[in-house]
Amino acid sequence: MTLAPSRRVAVVLAAGKGTRLRSDLPKVLHPVGGRPMIEWVLDATRGAGCEQTLVVVGHGAEQVREAIDDDSDIVWVEQHQQLGTGHALAQAEPHVEGDAILLVLYGDVPLVSVETLDRLSEAAAAGWGAMAAAELEDAGWLGRVITGPGGDLERIVEVPDAGPEELAVRLGNAGIYALPSPGIFDYLRRLEPANAQGELYLTDAVGDAAVAGDSVSVVRLGDPSEALGINDRADQARAHRALLERHMARLMAAGVTILEPARTVVEAGVRVGAETVIHPGVSLLGMTEIGAGCVLHQGAWIRDSKLADGVEVKPYSVFDRAEVADGCTVGPFARLRPASVLMEGARVGNFVEVKKTRIGAGSKASHLTYLGDATIGDGANIGAGVVTCNYDGAAKHQTEIGDGAFVGSDTMLVAPVRVGREATTAAGSTITDDVPDEALGVGRSRQRNIPGWARRMRKKIKRS
Ligand code: UD1
Ligand code: CA
Repeated sequence: MTLAPSRRVAVVLAAGKGTRLRSDLPKVLHPVGGRPMIEWVLDATRGAGCEQTLVVVGHGAEQVREAIDDDSDIVWVEQHQQLGTGHALAQAEPHVEGDAILLVLYGDVPLVSVETLDRLSEAAAAGWGAMAAAELEDAGWLGRVITGPGGDLERIVEVPDAGPEELAVRLGNAGIYALPSPGIFDYLRRLEPANAQGELYLTDAVGDAAVAGDSVSVVRLGDPSEALGINDRADQARAHRALLERHMARLMAAGVTILEPARTVVEAGVRVGAETVIHPGVSLLGMTEIGAGCVLHQGAWIRDSKLADGVEVKPYSVFDRAEVADGCTVGPFARLRPASVLMEGARVGNFVEVKKTRIGAGSKASHLTYLGDATIGDGANIGAGVVTCNYDGAAKHQTEIGDGAFVGSDTMLVAPVRVGREATTAAGSTITDDVPDEALGVGRSRQRNIPGWARRMRKKIKRS
């Protein structure tokens, strides 16, 4: 039998306070996998092609509305008092247009997949409604799903209302449903708060439908982690890890080596090319893009940065909004701050800090250096301990270093200043004036030696 495709409308319940998180921030804004948990839920509803998305907000409603980066299609529904999940869904009724399959999701269940929403919609279209359940070793605080002889739902029992036999049931309610509108609203209207928590449970309405002969099929999750609900900080940590690992699994399938995924952080917005090797303790955050064939050693922390192909990052280096071209080497212990650009094959070594600076192709700054507000040409060599003195206490100034220049160790470049093409600065110089192309700039006092000084000094000390 082929079924007519039905309209899908999503309702996300996100009004609860999340008391057990002990936080002023509304629960659904707490981050997992690098973004507010509700964003993951909204991704899934978008992926499932919902015609309308309603979000029920209450506690911290204003904050939630503001925080969700969304220019689109969300219809905000207010639940003024949080009287339970059934009451929350009931608030959506006036906003749902026409007959539809309602995909009901909880804002604190972020691992939900588009595939699950598709399966639920299909199951609901074939009968009355459907719900997702996870077979777990210990269903913990999830409502227990009791099925009838045909495998369909009989009822859902919340933990505070459950007896020992019900608690032993391993099938947990994931909190993801496909329910017909307007059908479900009849059951919601008849709800009573006759339970241990005194709430109007959505789960009771779904159970009541089943009792009345409106069959609810129980769709088992292939990946039980989809049922992870976040009620406290320990749940948050589990869901965060699960989201990171899900993305890392995808990257590994695409040819990225992640030596120890359990000790690695790769947020969902991060792209990594094939044959790149990621060592433990690496964090790749935000919108970072890593090319192919890179090696990222232990402790690299990279946020919103772009690394091209064949880049080697040695241990404990920090990148923040930096851009690095093919074949560069960075670190160990290097820091690339915003607007740092390394051109092809450039090298930045240990204890080198770079800010708003472009380092040309094949140029090197290997040790103990600060390069800020500078432009460095190709094939230049920046010696150990070089500092661009870019700030005079009031304004920042530019330093320019030409192609093939050799900046001697411990040169202070007092900006604004220019070191010419193929020019050299003598080690230990303080350069305050431009050095012409091919010239040597010396800016230090000449050394003098005082013979016999040590002997005279010793005598002096004895006398005193
Ligand atoms: C709920 C389910 C439980 C399921 C679990 C899955 C009920 C009665 N129980 O329990 O069977 O196993 O989720 O994670 O539904 N909310 C509102 N308004 C309210 C109350 C809650 O919007 O008045 C929202 C919350 O913000 C939250 C979601 O609904 O995002 C779930 O509420 P919560 O109190 O966390 O339910 P659980 O006890 O986890
Ligand atoms: Ca919950």
